[in-house]
Amino acid sequence: MTHNVLLLPGDGIGPEIAAQAARLLDACQKAGLDISVEEALVGGSAYDAHGVPLPDATLEKARKASAILLGAVGGPKWDKIDDLSKRPEKGLLGLRKNLGLFGNLRPAMLYPQLASASSLKPELVAGLDIMIVRELTGGIYFGQPRGIEERNGERVGFNTYVYSESEIERIGRVAFEMAQKRGKKLCSVDKANVLEVTILWREVMERLAPEYPDVELSHMYVDNAAMQLVRAPKQFDVVVTGNMFGDILSDAAAMLTGSIGMLPSASLNETGQGMYEPCHGSAPDIAGQNIANPLAMMLSVAMMLRYSLNETAMAERIEAAVGRVLDDGLRTADIASPGMQTVSTVEMGDAVLAAFAQG
Ligand code: IPM
Ligand code: MG
Repeated sequence: MTHNVLLLPGDGIGPEIAAQAARLLDACQKAGLDISVEEALVGGSAYDAHGVPLPDATLEKARKASAILLGAVGGPKWDKIDDLSKRPEKGLLGLRKNLGLFGNLRPAMLYPQLASASSLKPELVAGLDIMIVRELTGGIYFGQPRGIEERNGERVGFNTYVYSESEIERIGRVAFEMAQKRGKKLCSVDKANVLEVTILWREVMERLAPEYPDVELSHMYVDNAAMQLVRAPKQFDVVVTGNMFGDILSDAAAMLTGSIGMLPSASLNETGQGMYEPCHGSAPDIAGQNIANPLAMMLSVAMMLRYSLNETAMAERIEAAVGRVLDDGLRTADIASPGMQTVSTVEMGDAVLAAFAQG
Protein backbone atom coordinates (compact mmCIF):
# COMPACT_ATOMS: atom_id res chain seq x y z
CA MET A 1 0.00 0.00 0.00
CA THR A 2 1.28 3.46 -0.86
CA HIS A 3 1.66 5.60 2.26
CA ASN A 4 0.52 9.07 1.50
CA VAL A 5 2.43 11.69 3.47
CA LEU A 6 1.33 15.30 3.81
CA LEU A 7 4.20 17.74 4.28
CA LEU A 8 3.29 21.06 5.90
CA PRO A 9 6.39 23.27 5.94
CA GLY A 10 4.72 26.20 7.75
CA ASP A 11 6.58 29.35 8.76
CA GLY A 12 9.96 30.64 9.89
CA ILE A 13 12.59 27.93 9.66
CA GLY A 14 9.80 25.45 8.83
CA PRO A 15 10.35 25.48 5.06
CA GLU A 16 14.13 25.11 5.43
CA ILE A 17 13.96 22.05 7.65
CA ALA A 18 11.00 20.63 5.72
CA ALA A 19 13.16 20.75 2.59
CA GLN A 20 15.66 18.44 4.30
CA ALA A 21 12.84 16.12 5.37
CA ALA A 22 11.58 16.05 1.78
CA ARG A 23 15.02 14.99 0.56
CA LEU A 24 15.08 12.28 3.19
CA LEU A 25 11.65 11.01 2.14
CA ASP A 26 12.95 10.90 -1.39
CA ALA A 27 15.90 8.81 -0.26
CA CYS A 28 13.55 6.48 1.63
CA GLN A 29 11.53 6.06 -1.53
CA LYS A 30 14.66 5.17 -3.49
CA ALA A 31 15.47 2.69 -0.75
CA GLY A 32 12.17 0.94 -1.39
CA LEU A 33 9.61 2.74 0.75
CA ASP A 34 6.27 3.04 -1.04
CA ILE A 35 5.22 6.64 -0.36
CA SER A 36 3.77 9.62 -2.11
CA VAL A 37 4.35 13.10 -0.72
CA GLU A 38 2.08 16.09 -1.05
CA GLU A 39 2.53 19.61 0.34
CA ALA A 40 0.06 22.14 1.71
CA LEU A 41 -0.03 25.44 3.55
CA VAL A 42 -0.61 25.94 7.25
CA GLY A 43 -0.02 28.73 9.76
CA GLY A 44 1.09 32.22 8.79
CA SER A 45 1.91 31.23 5.24
CA ALA A 46 -1.64 29.93 4.82
CA TYR A 47 -3.00 33.12 6.37
CA ASP A 48 -1.03 35.21 3.88
CA ALA A 49 -2.30 33.19 0.92
CA HIS A 50 -5.88 32.46 2.03
CA GLY A 51 -6.66 34.62 5.06
CA VAL A 52 -6.94 31.62 7.42
CA PRO A 53 -4.26 29.56 9.20
CA LEU A 54 -5.91 26.23 8.35
CA PRO A 55 -7.50 26.30 4.88
CA ASP A 56 -10.18 23.68 4.20
CA ALA A 57 -8.03 22.21 1.44
CA THR A 58 -5.22 21.58 3.92
CA LEU A 59 -7.54 19.98 6.45
CA GLU A 60 -9.03 17.78 3.73
CA LYS A 61 -5.60 16.59 2.66
CA ALA A 62 -4.65 16.03 6.29
CA ARG A 63 -7.72 13.86 6.89
CA LYS A 64 -6.79 11.64 3.97
CA ALA A 65 -3.07 11.38 4.71
CA SER A 66 -1.52 8.29 6.27
CA ALA A 67 0.68 10.68 8.23
CA ILE A 68 1.48 14.38 8.42
CA LEU A 69 4.88 15.99 8.76
CA LEU A 70 4.83 19.55 10.00
CA GLY A 71 7.70 22.04 10.19
CA ALA A 72 6.64 24.88 12.48
CA VAL A 73 4.15 27.72 12.55
CA GLY A 74 4.08 31.31 13.77
CA GLY A 75 6.23 34.40 13.88
CA PRO A 76 6.19 38.08 14.84
CA LYS A 77 4.78 38.99 11.44
CA TRP A 78 1.42 37.51 12.50
CA ASP A 79 1.40 38.46 16.20
CA LYS A 80 -0.48 41.61 15.30
CA ILE A 81 -3.53 39.73 14.03
CA ASP A 82 -6.21 40.75 16.53
CA ASP A 83 -8.54 37.87 15.81
CA LEU A 84 -6.95 35.02 17.81
CA SER A 85 -8.73 32.47 15.63
CA LYS A 86 -6.67 33.65 12.65
CA ARG A 87 -3.27 33.36 14.30
CA PRO A 88 -0.86 30.77 12.87
CA GLU A 89 -0.93 28.74 16.11
CA LYS A 90 -4.63 28.12 15.50
CA GLY A 91 -3.67 26.24 12.36
CA LEU A 92 -1.72 23.80 14.47
CA LEU A 93 -4.36 23.58 17.21
CA GLY A 94 -7.04 23.12 14.53
CA LEU A 95 -5.17 20.17 13.02
CA ARG A 96 -4.73 18.57 16.43
CA LYS A 97 -8.37 19.03 17.35
CA ASN A 98 -9.94 18.14 14.00
CA LEU A 99 -7.89 14.99 13.61
CA GLY A 100 -8.32 14.02 17.25
CA LEU A 101 -4.57 13.86 17.83
CA PHE A 102 -4.85 13.55 21.61
CA GLY A 103 -1.71 11.56 22.34
CA ASN A 104 1.43 13.65 22.13
CA LEU A 105 4.73 11.81 22.56
CA ARG A 106 7.70 14.03 23.30
CA PRO A 107 10.89 12.13 23.89
CA ALA A 108 13.77 13.89 25.60
CA MET A 109 16.81 11.77 25.06
CA LEU A 110 20.40 12.78 25.25
CA TYR A 111 22.71 11.88 22.43
CA PRO A 112 25.97 10.99 24.23
CA GLN A 113 27.82 13.04 21.60
CA LEU A 114 25.99 16.16 22.82
CA ALA A 115 26.37 15.80 26.59
CA SER A 116 28.46 18.96 26.76
CA ALA A 117 25.71 20.99 25.09
CA SER A 118 23.29 20.38 27.97
CA SER A 119 22.68 23.18 30.43
CA LEU A 120 23.10 20.64 33.25
CA LYS A 121 26.27 18.90 34.39
CA PRO A 122 27.11 15.89 32.19
CA GLU A 123 26.73 13.42 35.08
CA LEU A 124 23.14 14.57 35.68
CA VAL A 125 22.10 14.00 32.07
CA ALA A 126 24.31 11.15 30.81
CA GLY A 127 21.96 8.46 29.52
CA LEU A 128 18.89 10.65 29.91
CA ASP A 129 15.86 9.13 28.19
CA ILE A 130 12.47 10.52 29.16
CA MET A 131 9.19 10.20 27.30
CA ILE A 132 6.65 12.90 28.03
CA VAL A 133 3.12 11.87 27.11
CA ARG A 134 1.11 15.07 26.84
CA GLU A 135 -2.67 15.21 26.39
CA LEU A 136 -3.11 17.39 23.32
CA THR A 137 -6.75 18.03 22.48
CA GLY A 138 -8.29 18.96 25.82
CA GLY A 139 -7.61 20.76 29.06
CA ILE A 140 -7.32 24.51 29.34
CA TYR A 141 -6.28 24.87 25.69
CA PHE A 142 -9.76 23.96 24.49
CA GLY A 143 -12.05 24.26 27.52
CA GLN A 144 -15.23 26.31 27.30
CA PRO A 145 -16.21 28.93 28.29
CA ARG A 146 -13.27 31.11 27.37
CA GLY A 147 -12.84 34.70 26.41
CA ILE A 148 -12.29 38.28 27.44
CA GLU A 149 -15.37 40.25 28.44
CA GLU A 150 -16.52 43.25 30.32
CA ARG A 151 -17.68 42.65 33.89
CA ASN A 152 -18.44 45.39 36.38
CA GLY A 153 -16.71 48.03 34.33
CA GLU A 154 -13.49 46.18 33.68
CA ARG A 155 -12.31 43.51 31.29
CA VAL A 156 -11.95 39.98 32.58
CA GLY A 157 -10.12 37.17 30.84
CA PHE A 158 -11.06 33.55 31.52
CA ASN A 159 -10.35 30.02 30.40
CA THR A 160 -11.65 26.69 31.58
CA TYR A 161 -9.53 23.78 32.69
CA VAL A 162 -11.67 20.73 32.07
CA TYR A 163 -11.06 17.00 31.54
CA SER A 164 -13.62 14.21 31.35
CA GLU A 165 -12.86 10.77 32.73
CA SER A 166 -12.79 9.30 29.22
CA GLU A 167 -10.25 11.87 28.05
CA ILE A 168 -8.03 11.12 31.04
CA GLU A 169 -8.42 7.40 30.60
CA ARG A 170 -7.40 7.31 26.94
CA ILE A 171 -4.23 9.35 27.48
CA GLY A 172 -3.55 7.28 30.59
CA ARG A 173 -3.66 4.11 28.53
CA VAL A 174 -1.23 5.53 25.96
CA ALA A 175 1.15 6.35 28.80
CA PHE A 176 0.84 3.01 30.61
CA GLU A 177 1.43 1.16 27.35
CA MET A 178 4.44 3.35 26.60
CA ALA A 179 5.83 2.60 30.07
CA GLN A 180 5.35 -1.13 29.45
CA LYS A 181 7.54 -0.84 26.35
CA ARG A 182 10.19 1.17 28.18
CA GLY A 183 11.44 1.31 31.77
CA LYS A 184 8.05 0.41 33.36
CA LYS A 185 7.89 3.59 35.41
CA LEU A 186 5.11 6.12 34.95
CA CYS A 187 4.92 9.46 36.73
CA SER A 188 1.60 11.28 36.44
CA VAL A 189 1.95 15.03 36.89
CA ASP A 190 -0.93 17.09 38.27
CA LYS A 191 -1.85 19.87 40.66
CA ALA A 192 -4.20 17.81 42.78
CA ASN A 193 -3.48 19.91 45.86
CA VAL A 194 -5.34 22.81 44.26
CA LEU A 195 -7.30 21.86 41.12
CA GLU A 196 -10.34 19.55 41.14
CA VAL A 197 -9.81 18.62 37.51
CA THR A 198 -6.48 17.09 38.44
CA ILE A 199 -7.92 15.35 41.51
CA LEU A 200 -10.04 13.49 38.97
CA TRP A 201 -6.96 13.02 36.77
CA ARG A 202 -5.13 11.35 39.66
CA GLU A 203 -8.12 9.14 40.50
CA VAL A 204 -8.42 7.88 36.94
CA MET A 205 -4.68 7.11 36.73
CA GLU A 206 -4.97 5.16 40.01
CA ARG A 207 -7.96 3.28 38.67
CA LEU A 208 -6.06 2.21 35.54
CA ALA A 209 -2.94 1.10 37.42
CA PRO A 210 -4.11 -2.45 38.35
CA GLU A 211 -4.55 -3.20 34.63
CA TYR A 212 -0.82 -2.57 34.16
CA PRO A 213 0.66 -4.42 37.13
CA ASP A 214 4.15 -4.36 35.61
CA VAL A 215 4.18 -0.54 35.61
CA GLU A 216 5.07 1.39 38.74
CA LEU A 217 2.80 4.46 38.91
CA SER A 218 3.74 7.56 40.90
CA HIS A 219 2.25 11.05 41.15
CA MET A 220 3.92 14.42 41.34
CA TYR A 221 2.69 17.99 41.59
CA VAL A 222 3.67 20.00 38.56
CA ASP A 223 5.77 22.54 40.46
CA ASN A 224 7.79 19.75 42.03
CA ALA A 225 8.06 18.02 38.65
CA ALA A 226 9.58 21.16 37.15
CA MET A 227 12.10 21.23 39.98
CA GLN A 228 12.89 17.50 39.77
CA LEU A 229 13.44 17.79 36.02
CA VAL A 230 16.32 20.18 36.54
CA ARG A 231 17.53 18.57 39.79
CA ALA A 232 17.59 14.86 38.97
CA PRO A 233 16.02 14.26 35.55
CA LYS A 234 17.12 10.64 35.31
CA GLN A 235 14.52 9.61 37.91
CA PHE A 236 11.90 9.86 35.13
CA ASP A 237 10.98 7.26 32.55
CA VAL A 238 7.50 8.06 31.20
CA VAL A 239 5.70 11.21 32.35
CA VAL A 240 1.99 11.69 31.64
CA THR A 241 0.27 15.02 32.04
CA GLY A 242 -2.35 17.40 30.69
CA ASN A 243 -2.07 19.79 27.79
CA MET A 244 -0.65 22.90 29.42
CA PHE A 245 1.61 21.24 31.99
CA GLY A 246 2.93 19.07 29.18
CA ASP A 247 3.61 22.09 27.00
CA ILE A 248 5.75 23.64 29.72
CA LEU A 249 7.51 20.55 31.05
CA SER A 250 8.40 19.29 27.59
CA ASP A 251 10.29 22.49 26.78
CA ALA A 252 12.25 22.18 30.02
CA ALA A 253 12.95 18.49 29.38
CA ALA A 254 14.03 19.22 25.83
CA MET A 255 16.64 21.70 26.94
CA LEU A 256 18.23 19.11 29.22
CA THR A 257 19.30 17.28 26.11
CA GLY A 258 21.38 20.18 24.89
CA SER A 259 19.14 21.42 22.17
CA ILE A 260 15.50 21.52 21.43
CA GLY A 261 16.76 21.34 17.82
CA MET A 262 17.26 17.58 18.22
CA LEU A 263 13.84 16.45 19.36
CA PRO A 264 11.01 15.07 17.26
CA SER A 265 7.46 14.52 18.46
CA ALA A 266 4.43 12.49 17.49
CA SER A 267 0.75 13.32 17.94
CA LEU A 268 -1.48 10.31 17.50
CA ASN A 269 -5.20 9.70 17.30
CA GLU A 270 -7.20 6.56 18.07
CA THR A 271 -6.64 5.09 14.63
CA GLY A 272 -2.86 5.49 14.78
CA GLN A 273 -2.85 8.30 12.27
CA GLY A 274 -0.25 10.79 13.35
CA MET A 275 1.23 14.20 12.91
CA TYR A 276 4.97 14.48 13.37
CA GLU A 277 6.82 17.66 14.12
CA PRO A 278 9.98 18.90 15.73
CA CYS A 279 9.51 20.11 19.33
CA HIS A 280 11.10 23.44 18.52
CA GLY A 281 9.14 26.32 17.07
CA SER A 282 9.52 28.42 13.94
CA ALA A 283 12.59 30.33 15.28
CA PRO A 284 11.86 33.48 13.27
CA ASP A 285 15.10 35.06 14.50
CA ILE A 286 17.19 32.63 12.43
CA ALA A 287 14.76 31.97 9.57
CA GLY A 288 16.08 32.20 6.04
CA GLN A 289 19.72 31.99 7.09
CA ASN A 290 20.37 28.32 6.39
CA ILE A 291 21.62 27.79 9.96
CA ALA A 292 18.67 25.98 11.59
CA ASN A 293 19.19 22.43 12.81
CA PRO A 294 17.23 20.05 10.54
CA LEU A 295 17.81 16.99 12.75
CA ALA A 296 14.60 17.19 14.82
CA MET A 297 12.67 17.35 11.56
CA MET A 298 14.60 14.46 10.05
CA LEU A 299 14.12 12.45 13.24
CA SER A 300 10.40 13.27 12.98
CA VAL A 301 10.46 11.38 9.69
CA ALA A 302 11.91 8.41 11.59
CA MET A 303 9.22 8.68 14.25
CA MET A 304 6.56 8.77 11.52
CA LEU A 305 7.96 5.63 9.94
CA ARG A 306 7.89 3.89 13.31
CA TYR A 307 4.52 4.94 14.71
CA SER A 308 2.27 5.48 11.68
CA LEU A 309 3.79 3.57 8.78
CA ASN A 310 5.12 0.54 10.61
CA GLU A 311 8.50 0.82 8.90
CA THR A 312 10.74 0.19 11.87
CA ALA A 313 13.83 -0.83 9.92
CA MET A 314 13.80 2.34 7.84
CA ALA A 315 13.25 4.42 11.01
CA GLU A 316 16.27 2.81 12.62
CA ARG A 317 18.31 3.47 9.53
CA ILE A 318 17.56 7.21 9.79
CA GLU A 319 18.34 7.30 13.50
CA ALA A 320 21.60 5.48 12.91
CA ALA A 321 22.49 7.95 10.16
CA VAL A 322 21.92 10.87 12.54
CA GLY A 323 24.08 9.15 15.17
CA ARG A 324 26.92 8.70 12.68
CA VAL A 325 26.77 12.31 11.58
CA LEU A 326 27.07 13.41 15.21
CA ASP A 327 29.92 10.95 15.72
CA ASP A 328 31.67 12.59 12.78
CA GLY A 329 31.50 15.88 14.68
CA LEU A 330 29.01 17.70 12.47
CA ARG A 331 27.16 20.38 14.42
CA THR A 332 24.73 23.12 13.54
CA ALA A 333 25.21 26.24 15.65
CA ASP A 334 22.62 25.27 18.28
CA ILE A 335 24.41 22.06 19.27
CA ALA A 336 28.03 23.15 18.83
CA SER A 337 30.29 23.43 21.86
CA PRO A 338 32.40 26.58 21.97
CA GLY A 339 35.18 26.49 19.40
CA MET A 340 33.58 23.77 17.28
CA GLN A 341 33.10 24.32 13.58
CA THR A 342 29.47 24.52 12.51
CA VAL A 343 27.62 23.43 9.39
CA SER A 344 24.58 24.86 7.67
CA THR A 345 21.09 23.40 7.48
CA VAL A 346 21.72 22.05 4.00
CA GLU A 347 25.17 20.68 4.87
CA MET A 348 23.67 18.82 7.82
CA GLY A 349 20.97 17.47 5.50
CA ASP A 350 23.64 16.38 3.01
CA ALA A 351 25.55 14.55 5.73
CA VAL A 352 22.49 12.66 7.00
CA LEU A 353 21.57 11.67 3.45
CA ALA A 354 25.08 10.43 2.78
CA ALA A 355 25.10 8.38 5.98
CA PHE A 356 21.63 7.05 5.19
CA ALA A 357 22.72 6.03 1.69
CA GLN A 358 25.53 3.95 3.18
CA GLY A 359 22.86 1.96 4.99
C1 IPM B 1 3.91 23.23 21.24
C2 IPM B 1 3.72 24.69 20.97
C3 IPM B 1 2.23 24.94 20.71
C4 IPM B 1 1.48 24.56 21.98
C5 IPM B 1 1.88 26.36 20.24
C6 IPM B 1 2.67 26.76 19.03
C7 IPM B 1 0.42 26.54 20.04
O1 IPM B 1 4.20 25.45 22.02
O2 IPM B 1 3.59 22.40 20.37
O3 IPM B 1 4.39 22.91 22.33
O4 IPM B 1 1.37 25.38 22.89
O5 IPM B 1 1.00 23.43 22.06
MG1 MG C 1 5.25 24.34 23.50
